[in-house]
Amino acid sequence: MLKIGFIQFAPVLGNVDATLKKLNRLIDRAEGADVIVLPELCNSGYNFRDFDEAWTCSEEIEQSTFIAYLTSKCRELGFFIISGFNERAGDHLYNSAILVGPEGYMGRYRKCHLFMNEKDYFKPGDEGLPVFDTGKCRIGILICFDWIFPEVWRILALKGADIICHPSNLVLPGLAQKAIPVHAVTNRIFIVTANRIGTEGDLTFTGRSVIADPRGNVLEQGSKGGEEIGIADVDLHLAKEKMITPRNHLFNDRRPEMYRDLVSD
Ligand code: ACM
Repeated sequence: MLKIGFIQFAPVLGNVDATLKKLNRLIDRAEGADVIVLPELCNSGYNFRDFDEAWTCSEEIEQSTFIAYLTSKCRELGFFIISGFNERAGDHLYNSAILVGPEGYMGRYRKCHLFMNEKDYFKPGDEGLPVFDTGKCRIGILICFDWIFPEVWRILALKGADIICHPSNLVLPGLAQKAIPVHAVTNRIFIVTANRIGTEGDLTFTGRSVIADPRGNVLEQGSKGGEEIGIADVDLHLAKEKMITPRNHLFNDRRPEMYRDLVSD
């Protein structure tokens, strides 16, 4: 059994110290969990005025106060954290998510499908769809608007992800929250969507973070606007068992030769 969870809260736009203060109030309550997911762009906030503001609140992975803090908490409390991260790399910004554990930074995913004004600030992900082995479970990562593209969920499931962690700043009311349990059923995986709350300028974030199991059950759900932690006990064997009936295997019954249209431009 594994304990997986989300922390739903509102990062502070452009003020990583204020965000860390808030997080510090919440994070000890996740003690005992194995895997914790935080919202998208958690080190910076989301609704930038322009590229300069997005740049000012970005961090390089190697120099990040935010990652140093997460590492210290993972070391102290023994869990793994997946968090959205405004990543500066050379002259570019990426809307990334990082995996941090007791030994520190372990890897990143750069968001593939950019939403609305993100296209003005970030380069689209260019490093594919990694799956990370923590020793306890295999973790895939997607970020917010990636939710609407079933292809990326399937690829991570095919690569052996047991859990897909999904840092989010959702603004379209209720849509992703409907889709998440469906992605969990159709790929037989666990999903943790950590959505933020609050308002930045003209955007209000929709909360209702969710943990879904491979049968499509919602194990935990956040409220629309509250600062909350949700944790669920999960049996990873449910995600590893891909037989749907005694004669149907989720992956082996696929017909890739029928799917060629999917990979043409
Ligand atoms: C989103 O991708 N932040 C809606």
